[in-house]
Amino acid sequence: MSSTYQAGPAEIVYDNATKRYPSQPAPALNRLSLTVSAGEICALVGPSGGGKTTALTLINRMTELSGGDIRIGGRGIRETDPIALRRGIGYVIQHTGLFPHMSVAANIKLVPRILKWSTRAARKRALELLELVGLSPAEQFADRYPTQLSGGQQQRVGIARALAVDPPVMLMDEPFGALDPITRGNVQQEFLRLHARIGKTTLFVTHDLDEAILMGDRIAILHEGGTLAQYDTPETILRNPANEFVARFLGSERSLKRLALTTLAQLSPSPPSGPVPDWPAAPPATSLREALAIILAEGCDGLLVGERTNPTGLLSLDALRQASTTEAARSR
Ligand SMILES: Nc1ncnc2c1ncn2[C@@H]1O[C@H](COP(=O)(O)OP(=O)(O)OP(=O)(O)O)[C@@H](O)[C@H]1O
Ligand SMILES: [Mg+2]
Repeated sequence: MSSTYQAGPAEIVYDNATKRYPSQPAPALNRLSLTVSAGEICALVGPSGGGKTTALTLINRMTELSGGDIRIGGRGIRETDPIALRRGIGYVIQHTGLFPHMSVAANIKLVPRILKWSTRAARKRALELLELVGLSPAEQFADRYPTQLSGGQQQRVGIARALAVDPPVMLMDEPFGALDPITRGNVQQEFLRLHARIGKTTLFVTHDLDEAILMGDRIAILHEGGTLAQYDTPETILRNPANEFVARFLGSERSLKRLALTTLAQLSPSPPSGPVPDWPAAPPATSLREALAIILAEGCDGLLVGERTNPTGLLSLDALRQASTTEAARSR
């Protein structure tokens, strides 16, 4: 019943993918080549008009390539019928694109019903997905209309709908752009937990660099004119911006953002010897950026790692400064 599509994650390869819109003299996407490994999240960032949405819609052939190729799981998208192709791709757009006159369950069941799943099977799948995206108990959400949900809840329904037929690929175009910071943080964490369980190959467009760093296994930075400025892990991009454009795009908080990628545990501060200073304690999973914030807020000279009464290490402000200058020096 469920599908004729491969359910496992698939690698996506852009091979010199180029898009020229008929009315435009310059290409919107210019010879983009990059590989998103199966099951990874690729965050796409860059200036407005840089070709991010185009890069996404080329994959499901809502926009047709002008040159080059894109392969999903080794198969060229031009060899696949667009309708069949789209069934293997979940697409989440900004403001969710839910149909307001249809219930939450009906929105999620849309594609399964088009694929002639039975009413029972489609309903069962909708309820299962509502639970999966954290709208629980599902029965309480299924028969409401989108306007009867909060923005974050609607966003989750949008994700559930995209997952309905278990596509190997997810395209997400600024999916959390309209949410307030707290809801956004929750939905980001929810999606990361979900992704850890179901591992779809995901292309995720965002304007928010912190979101790209948090969500992306790798980040692709597109330049105006749709050329690729850099494609690498967040860590490497922050440490080694490929050029002036990337450095400017990352901005002056680059070293702070890098501190956010390292935890107290990873820095392995020396275990205390002698008397333990009267500093606040923080768990080993605390990022160096949070550690710095605590130190500044408390007006102290360092942090204890782990339990206050039995710390596993300590981090002095000097050591933190040292770490950040080493980071800054390395990233220059
Ligand atoms: N249907 C279209 N016809 C002509 N030009 C288009 C079309 N869609 C997009 N473009 C142009 O292609 C370029 C890339 O657009 P695209 O929507 O991919 O950018 P983006 O990076 O998603 O921007 P934003 O961050 O503002 O969403 C832009 O210059 C845009 O004006
Ligand atoms: Mg866009």
